[in-house]
Amino acid sequence: MRLNAIILAAGKGTRMKTKLPKCAFPILKKPMIEYIVENVESSGVDNIVVVVGHKHEVIENILGERVRYAYQEQQLGTGHATLAAEDILQDEKGTTLMLLGDMPLIDEETIERILASHQQSENDLTVVTANFEDPSGYGRIIRDDYGRISAIVEERDCTEKQCDIKEINTGLYAINNTYLFKTLKKIERNPQKGEYYLTDIVKIMNGEYRVGTFNIRDNHRVMGVNDLVAVARAEKYLRDEINESLMLNGVSMINPETITIGHNVRIEGNVTINPNTTITGNSTVSEGAVVGPNTEIHNGVIHRDVHIHHSLIYDSVVHERSTIGPFAHLRNNADIGRDNRIGNFVEVKKSSTGANTKASHLAYIGDTVTGENVNFGCGSITVNYDGKEKHKTTIGDDVFIGCNTNLIAPIMIEDNVFIAAGSTVTENVPSGSLAIARNRQINKADYAKNLIKPKPKNNGLK
Ligand code: UD1
Ligand code: CA
Repeated sequence: MRLNAIILAAGKGTRMKTKLPKCAFPILKKPMIEYIVENVESSGVDNIVVVVGHKHEVIENILGERVRYAYQEQQLGTGHATLAAEDILQDEKGTTLMLLGDMPLIDEETIERILASHQQSENDLTVVTANFEDPSGYGRIIRDDYGRISAIVEERDCTEKQCDIKEINTGLYAINNTYLFKTLKKIERNPQKGEYYLTDIVKIMNGEYRVGTFNIRDNHRVMGVNDLVAVARAEKYLRDEINESLMLNGVSMINPETITIGHNVRIEGNVTINPNTTITGNSTVSEGAVVGPNTEIHNGVIHRDVHIHHSLIYDSVVHERSTIGPFAHLRNNADIGRDNRIGNFVEVKKSSTGANTKASHLAYIGDTVTGENVNFGCGSITVNYDGKEKHKTTIGDDVFIGCNTNLIAPIMIEDNVFIAAGSTVTENVPSGSLAIARNRQINKADYAKNLIKPKPKNNGLK
């Protein structure tokens, strides 16, 4: 049986009050719509149509070619938006799952249960409902004397009595595709809001077709995100869920409520995460690593037994047993070799280091390839930028770079080199050399008194 899905993501998300369209807004640094598409994909849907409109290019940029797009020029409501998928899906048989682009917590298992229930019940339309202690903001499910669903009423159209109903419309439906588009065309504009409500399909199909409901117990799975308060709430659910599952797999978390781990992050057992740590994007952390406190990693690959404290790591790799921080910053493809030490106030950008290399304090390493056993003294800098262009530095194995050294790129420092502290090195240094590039010191005897007056001793007291 063929499975189709329509995901509505054309709306502006006015209640968000953000520039970014709602469905592109991130939950744990990942756009809401991506969660939905991922889960729909993994539940075996063949044909995914995302309805876009407002700032459609933002959504298209996120999803690329993994889905097909239907365009809703004007945002005239959820019924109108669904109809935009007609050109793509009109000839499809089988079941169409309809979802909203603002339900980021929906998971594969829930989708599969909805589809199974739709099949077993032989419904033509299954409306997915849930019982919310606080139903405000959601459409309410109206049932007849026999307990059958007869309509969905939006909150703003509810009578006082209907407002008290706790069973809500999740905005998820499974429908026989053969009836979908002709039903959508029968929806009339809501006189108050001027929109075409998708929810009206219940009234329209009732009587003629088999309409039923499927009640979801895990309420948070179907929560709709309409404003930034709901974004924070959704993030909290997801964060707690991810942290719990990691802890059960042997990841130790100190103060887990201050730790945020993204949805696609992989962390092995025997890892310790300290407070105020955020690991997101496509990051992995291997066994034995200790991360945090106060650390942010996005798209980082952290190998075994690495220790990272008070540091920022973006799009970078750290190999076995290296220690990073406190207050280090690795970015833009930094590749730190094994057994390195990258310490206090060291920035590494688009550079690689071999095994056993150290930059313990106050260094900048940019556009550099460094070998093994290199020591960057305190304050050493690869001067990669001449005001117009970036240049490369190459450093061999077993090099000692004295404190406060400037390596003016492009430059090559070969193996077994010693650079004297305070040097500004402008020329390549051949293997085995000692390079000294600074002025020789002059001591002028007895001259200081011309420049400084000695302070009176004993605080000036007699
Ligand atoms: C909708 C349902 C409501 C349900 C709730 C569940 C309707 C009329 N109401 O209300 O019954 O309880 O979801 O969360 O369906 N969209 C478009 N084009 C439009 C309008 C909306 O693509 O013209 C998209 C939005 O981008 C959004 C989704 O549809 O992703 C839902 O729209 P929203 O305005 O949030 O609907 P709710 O008021 O939450
Ligand atoms: Ca909504």
